[in-house]
Amino acid sequence: MASPSLLAEPTVTTRHGGGGPIVDRPTGGHQPVLLAETLGFLAPRPGGRYLDGTFGGGGHTRAILDASAPDGAVLAHDADPEAMVRAEALRAEPGIGPRLVAIQTNFERLADTAVATGFAPLDGVLLDLGLSSFQLDQSTRGFAFRFDGPLDMRFDPAAGRPAADLVNELPARELADLLFRYGEEPRARRIAAAIVRERERAPIATTARLARIVSDAVGGRRGSDTHPATRTFQALRIAANRELEVLVRALAGAVSVLAPGGRLVVIAFHSLEDRIVKRFLQQESAACVCPPGLPVCVCGHTPRLRRSTGRAVRASPAETATNPRSRSAVLRAAERLPDEGIPR
Ligand SMILES: C[S@@+](CC[C@H](N)C(=O)[O-])C[C@H]1O[C@@H](n2cnc3c(N)ncnc32)[C@H](O)[C@@H]1O
Repeated sequence: MASPSLLAEPTVTTRHGGGGPIVDRPTGGHQPVLLAETLGFLAPRPGGRYLDGTFGGGGHTRAILDASAPDGAVLAHDADPEAMVRAEALRAEPGIGPRLVAIQTNFERLADTAVATGFAPLDGVLLDLGLSSFQLDQSTRGFAFRFDGPLDMRFDPAAGRPAADLVNELPARELADLLFRYGEEPRARRIAAAIVRERERAPIATTARLARIVSDAVGGRRGSDTHPATRTFQALRIAANRELEVLVRALAGAVSVLAPGGRLVVIAFHSLEDRIVKRFLQQESAACVCPPGLPVCVCGHTPRLRRSTGRAVRASPAETATNPRSRSAVLRAAERLPDEGIPR
C-alpha cells in the first residue's frame, strides 16, 4: 500500500515532455469503452491503489477515482506526452489532486514505477490498449490515413523510430513479413513490392502517399467498407511501438505487483493482442503447464491468477451503437491469487 505521505505529497507528479493546449474536456473527446464492465471487474473501493497503464483521455481513470473516493488513488501512465496534459487537467479538479499520480512512460515499466512510487502492491491494473481518439484525430501523428500527415505513428514521438523509417529502410522481404505478421495482411508481398518500387522514386514520408500506394497495389475489395491500407497501417503501428512485446512485459509486471485479490483488466482491439492476453491468463491460471500426454504432473507450476472472464467480454449493442470504437473491443479480466496459488 502506498504510504499516506506519498499520496499527500507525491514524489512523482504529472510531467510531460510536450506542449499542446490544456483541453477543456478532461476525456479529450475519447469515450472510454466497456466502462461499466471495467469497473465491475476492477471493483474499485475507497483506499484502493490502482494503476491505469493507458491513461489516454482519462475516462477510465476518472471513473476509478470516482468509484474509489474519497481516498482511492491511481498511478496513471501513458507513453504520449499529450495524455499527460490531460492528466494535469484532471488533477486540477476538486477531489482529485494527489489521488492521481501520472507519469509519462511506456507501460512495459509498470512494475518498476509501481514499486518506485510506493503504489505496489496494487488493488487493480487496467490496460486499455491501442489508440486514443485525440491521437487518431490529429493528422500530425500519422495514425490515420483519412488525413495526410507525416508517417510517424509513435505513441511517444520521442522514442523509437517512426513508421516512415520502416517503410523506407526495411528490405522487401522483411517488410512483407512485418505486414503479414502484424497486419495479418494476405497481400503482404504485393504491397511490400509496391512500396519498394515507389520509395526508389522518392522516400515515402506521408500517410496519404502510403495509403495511395497500397490501394493502387491491391485495389479495394468489392463490397468492403474497409480501406485497403487498414492492415498495413495496423502492422506499421504495432511495429513502430513494439506493441506486442511491451504487452507481454506489462502483463508479467502487472502480476508481480498485484496484491492477492487484486484485479487485472485488459481491453484489446485486435486479435494479435487479444491472443497474447488470452494465452497469458490461461497460462497463469493453469494448475499444470506440463506438455499434454505426461502421465503425472512434473511442472510444479503454481497458478498466480484466477480468470474472472471465461469468454471475452464484448460491448453491448447499445454501446456499439453510440461508440463505434467499442465494436472491436475485447475485455478479459483475472484476479491475483495468493502466492501459494489455489488451495488444492
Ligand atoms: C485506448 S487509449 C486509452 C483510453 C483511456 N482508457 C480513456 O478512457 O481515455 C490507449 C492509450 O494508451 C497509450 N498507450 C498505448 N500503448 C502504450 C504503452 N506501451 N505504454 C504507455 N501508453 C501506451 C496510448 O498513447 C493511448 O493514449
